[in-house]
Amino acid sequence: MWTKTLFAALLITWLAVFQCNGHNFNYKEALTKSLMFLEAQRSGKLPANNRIHWRGDSALDDGKEANVDLVGGYYDAGDNVKYGMPMAFTITTLAWSAIAYEKELKAAGEMGNVHSALRWGTDYFLKCGKKRGIFYVQVGDPVEDHKCWVRPENMKTPRTVLQINETEPGTEIAAETSAAMAASSIVFRYVDPPYARRLLNKAKSLFYFGKRSKGTFDGECPFYCSFSGYNDELLWAASWLYTATHDQKFRKFITEEAVSAVVDEFNWDLKYAGIQVLLSDIFLQSNDEALKVFKEHADSYICSVLPQSPYFKVPKTPGLYFISPSSCLLFKIGPAGQIEN
Ligand SMILES: *[C@@H]1O[C@H](CO)[C@@H](O)[C@H](O)[C@H]1NC(C)=O
Repeated sequence: MWTKTLFAALLITWLAVFQCNGHNFNYKEALTKSLMFLEAQRSGKLPANNRIHWRGDSALDDGKEANVDLVGGYYDAGDNVKYGMPMAFTITTLAWSAIAYEKELKAAGEMGNVHSALRWGTDYFLKCGKKRGIFYVQVGDPVEDHKCWVRPENMKTPRTVLQINETEPGTEIAAETSAAMAASSIVFRYVDPPYARRLLNKAKSLFYFGKRSKGTFDGECPFYCSFSGYNDELLWAASWLYTATHDQKFRKFITEEAVSAVVDEFNWDLKYAGIQVLLSDIFLQSNDEALKVFKEHADSYICSVLPQSPYFKVPKTPGLYFISPSSCLLFKIGPAGQIEN
C-alpha cells in the first residue's frame, strides 16, 4: 500500500518536473491545433480539403430571411451563433500574427492554413457588406440556440439576421471589421493582389461608415457587450488603415482626433494595447514624434503583463500566458518556429 502511494507520489513529482521543463511542450502541435480549432468552427459549405472529418455543411440558408447570402464565417464558441464583433477581432489578430510572424509561420508549414483561415472570415465579411449602407453583424438567435447544445449540421433554431445601418449604428463592429479587412489586405498583398485591394476598399468604407454614424450596437449584448465604447475600435481601424496605406488621412485621425489610454489587457472589446504596440512599430521606423505617446503606453502595457511584474499573477506554462478568460493566450515564437519561454 505504502509503496504504491510512494510510487504514485513519485510519479506525480516526476510528471510535474517533466511538465515544468518547457522543452517537453510541443508548441508546434499547439499552433497546428489552434488553427484546426478555427477550421472546426467553420459555418457554411465546407471545401473538399476540410481537415475536420466529423464536420459537414451547415447553415446553408443563412441570410435568407433578409434576402442576402450570409453563408460562411465562423460559429462563435460552443454555440452556433455567428457574432460579428468577436469574429472580426479573431481575424484582425490572426492577420496580425501572419504579418508579425510571417517567417516563423512559413517555417512551421502553417502559412497556407493561416491564409485559408483568414479568407474564411474575410469572404464572409465581404458578403455582410455587400449592400450599401448596411452591414450584417449577426446570424442566429442566442436565446434559442443556447437552450440546447446541437451540432450545427442538425440545428433547427431560427437564423435571425441582425444588421447595423445609418439609423441603428454599430461603430464598434464596423470599425473592428475595418481593422480585420485592412490587416488581412496586408497579408494578401502579394499573395492575391486583386483580393487584397477589395479588402482594403471595404476596410476604408467600413471605417467611414462607423465614423459617420456613431453609436454602440446593443444587438450582441448580453453575450458580447461593448464595455469600452467605440473609440478604441475607431483608433484600431485607423491604425491598421495607416499601416496598410501610409495615407496621411489616417495619421491625422490617429494623432488629432483620437485619444489613447493606458490599459492592462488586450481583448475582443479593449483594443488600446494592440493599437499602442502596432503604432510603436511605425514610430520606431519613422521617428514620427506625434506617435511617441503610443510607444510610451505600449511600454507601460508590456510592463504590466511581464511575468517579472509584481502584478503578474496569471497562470502560465513556460511559454503561454493566460491573461483572462475573455482575453487571448499570449506566446512568443522564435526564429525557427519554436515557441520560446
Ligand atoms: C436598420 O437596422 C435596424 C436594426 O438593427 C432595423 O430595425 C431597421 O429596419 C434598419 N433600417 C433600414 C433602413 O434598413
